[in-house]
Amino acid sequence: MKHFLVKSVVARALIAGGGRNFNRQLLTAATTSPELKLRHVGAIHNSGYWPRMSTLAPSSGEKDQKEENGNAVVSSYWGITRQKIKREDGTEWPWNCFMPWETYRADVSIDVTKHHVPKSFSDKAAFKLVKFLRALSDLYFKERYGCHAMMLETIAAVPGMVGGMLLHLKSLRKFQHSGGWIKALLEEAENERMHLMTMVELVNPKWHERLLVITAQGVFFNAFFVFYLISPKMAHRFVGYLEEEAVISYTQHLEAIESGKVENVPAPAIAIDYWRLPKDATLKDVITVIRADEAHHRDVNHFASVSDIQHQGKELREAPAPVGYH
Ligand SMILES: [Fe+2]
Ligand SMILES: [Fe+2]
Repeated sequence: MKHFLVKSVVARALIAGGGRNFNRQLLTAATTSPELKLRHVGAIHNSGYWPRMSTLAPSSGEKDQKEENGNAVVSSYWGITRQKIKREDGTEWPWNCFMPWETYRADVSIDVTKHHVPKSFSDKAAFKLVKFLRALSDLYFKERYGCHAMMLETIAAVPGMVGGMLLHLKSLRKFQHSGGWIKALLEEAENERMHLMTMVELVNPKWHERLLVITAQGVFFNAFFVFYLISPKMAHRFVGYLEEEAVISYTQHLEAIESGKVENVPAPAIAIDYWRLPKDATLKDVITVIRADEAHHRDVNHFASVSDIQHQGKELREAPAPVGYH
C-alpha cells in the first residue's frame, strides 16, 4: 500500500514536471512513511533539500501515535506530524518554538562600545528621539533591570518585523529580489522575540507593566510603520541608536549582577538551548550573549542606513544582507 502510495506520488510529481516539486512531494511521502523516510533521507540530504533531517530521531510521528493510542494507528488527515528531535547529547528536544538548527553560539567578542556619531540632520534627530525615549523609560523603570529589559524587548522586536514586511511587499510590487534583507530583518525580529521569551522566564511583569506593553506596542508599531514608509534610512538609523541603548542597558544590568545588586540566578532552560550555553550557565552568561546580539543588531541597522542612501542611486537590496548574523 505504501509502495503504491509512493509510486503514485512520484508519478504525479513527474507529471507536474518540476524538480523542486518532485523533491517536495517525495519528501512528503518519505516523512509520512516510516520505512521510506529512512530510505530516502539520504537522497534528500544529498540533494541539499533538507539537510536538517540529520537531527531527526529514527522513530516517526506515526509510530508515536501508535504507541500513544495502543495499537490503533491514527493517521493525520493533513499529513503533519511533529518529528522527534534530539539534542546532541541524545535527550529529547523540548521546544516547539525553535529548532536545534536555529540555535547558535553568540559572538561575544563584538565591540560593545561602538557608536555612530550623528552627523546629518536626520541622524541627529534619530539620536535625540532615542535619547528622549531612553530618559522616559529610565524614569519609569529606574533600577528594575529585568522589567526594563523586558519592556525594551517588546519594542525592539517590532522594527525588524515592520521593515521585513514592508520590504516583502515592495519585492512583490516591484518583482524584485530583496537582496536577503527581508530574511535578515525577520531574523532580527525573531532573535529579539527570543530575548523576550528568555526575560519573561526571569521577570513576572505587573499588571500596569503589561498595560504599558500593550499601549506601547499599539503606538510604536503604527508610528514605526509610517516612519519606515517615509524614510527607511532614518528608520534604520533610529533602530541603530535604539540598539546602542540596548547595549548600554545590558552593560548596566551586567554591572548590577557583578556588584551583587541583582542575584546571579541560574539561566533559564530556553536560554541554555537557544544560545548553546553550558548547563550551569547563569543570568550573567545570558545577559552577556543578549548584549552581543544587540551589538550585532546595532551594526546591521547602522549599515542598512548608510547603504540605503549614502551610496546615491543604490537601494538596500543592492548591499549584501547579513543573513544569519548574530
Ligand atoms: Fe533584544
Ligand atoms: Fe536588538
